[in-house]
Amino acid sequence: MVDEVKQLILEQTRKLHRDRAAGEQGFVPGVTPILPSGAVLDEDDRTALVEQALEMRIASGAAALRFERLFARAIGVRKAHLTNSGSAANLLAVASLGAPELGERRLRAGDEVITVAASFPTTVNPLLQHGLVPVFVDVDLRTYNTTLDRIEAALTPKTRAVMMAHTMGNPFPVAEIAQLCRDRGLFLVEDNCDAVLATYQGRVTGTFGDYSTVSFYPAHHLTMGEGGCVLTDSLELARIVESMRDWGRDCWCEPGQDNKCLKRFEYQLGDLPYGYDHKYIFSHVGYNLKTTDIQAALGLSQLTKIADFVDARRRNWQRLREGLDGVPGLILPEATPGSDPSWFGFVITLTEDAGFHRREMVDFLQSRKIGTRLLFAGNLIRQPAYRDAVYRVSGELTNSDIITERTFWIGVYPGVTAEMIDYMVESIKEFAQRRA
Ligand SMILES: Cc1ncc(COP(=O)(O)O)c(C=O)c1O
Repeated sequence: MVDEVKQLILEQTRKLHRDRAAGEQGFVPGVTPILPSGAVLDEDDRTALVEQALEMRIASGAAALRFERLFARAIGVRKAHLTNSGSAANLLAVASLGAPELGERRLRAGDEVITVAASFPTTVNPLLQHGLVPVFVDVDLRTYNTTLDRIEAALTPKTRAVMMAHTMGNPFPVAEIAQLCRDRGLFLVEDNCDAVLATYQGRVTGTFGDYSTVSFYPAHHLTMGEGGCVLTDSLELARIVESMRDWGRDCWCEPGQDNKCLKRFEYQLGDLPYGYDHKYIFSHVGYNLKTTDIQAALGLSQLTKIADFVDARRRNWQRLREGLDGVPGLILPEATPGSDPSWFGFVITLTEDAGFHRREMVDFLQSRKIGTRLLFAGNLIRQPAYRDAVYRVSGELTNSDIITERTFWIGVYPGVTAEMIDYMVESIKEFAQRRA
């Protein structure tokens, strides 16, 4: 009887979804908003959420563990740990690289970490929050990524790590940078939040570094509403991340599980008395950055569609790229050589002599309901938050400044249709040609 009621509710949930979808209007140019990003949620997603809620699986549990296993496999690393955001994943990656068991390798306050100036703030914030010194390098226009030579030029005896994002889904030259890190004994953290299933030299991004991180916020390739993930191939680093995510505890029992190690009352660690409950022994100064099974249930449902999502992003990007080729005043994006990006958005920089300002173009697009975004923070050191931050700049940040002033992006997420793309192309051309 209970199961019948549940089935009925789930069937009604599907019906609700279909009814809502049937009531949605088709695309009307200039009227229907074209969002730069958004979640694409189908009836399976809605049903997965409702089912998990009906079971009242409200904390992190079996669904989270299952997602971690499947997602690690999808990316091609041994371990994935869910977090409550991509920012939390970056925080955990950096925090865990300071863990005492890493000995001489551990990051310590004052160490330098090379990163890019034109980026998302929470790729860099964990460095500042841990007393590390970000060393900002510039990026190229068109790829919006940095280069090996800029990283090499930024090295000093204090350099201990490189941490940066595959910008807008476009891989940075990660194989070469990973090799440099190995040669120099540096950690590499790939912020893969915007680039799930991109490849570089045929290998999936997020598998080159010591850690990689992912965001499951609705703008991203997969969504859980809020959520994120830290991935690693190292069992040692995975263990540290898990502990730091879960309050810093030494114990590795799953939630609700006791005595997995069969020695629960037989440890003596720190200055604690022998036999102190392992559940309450803390070997790291940790956080609680876990996610919930309700979020994970959505993630599991979304994961079955990841290949289609990435294909749609690539298709949309390509249609924009071809449609906008040769339009005056625009610097169009390019894939990093050797890569197959998993695009987050379509980035456009206006040429210096375009004859119009970014604000004018963005306003015009908005008047046609075409949404735009800036390339995140632009040159981060121009943001008010970093006025008193301790950092170093290596070389000039010319392109990061250009990005701050003349760059914006439009959507390629799977909710954008070919019809919408054609309307975006037509609108941009009309504006640029009229103003050039
Ligand atoms: C490159 C990059 N890193 C980190 C994040 C943070 O992810 P979250 O919003 O899940 O905290 C984002 C968010 O968009 C991002 O684009």
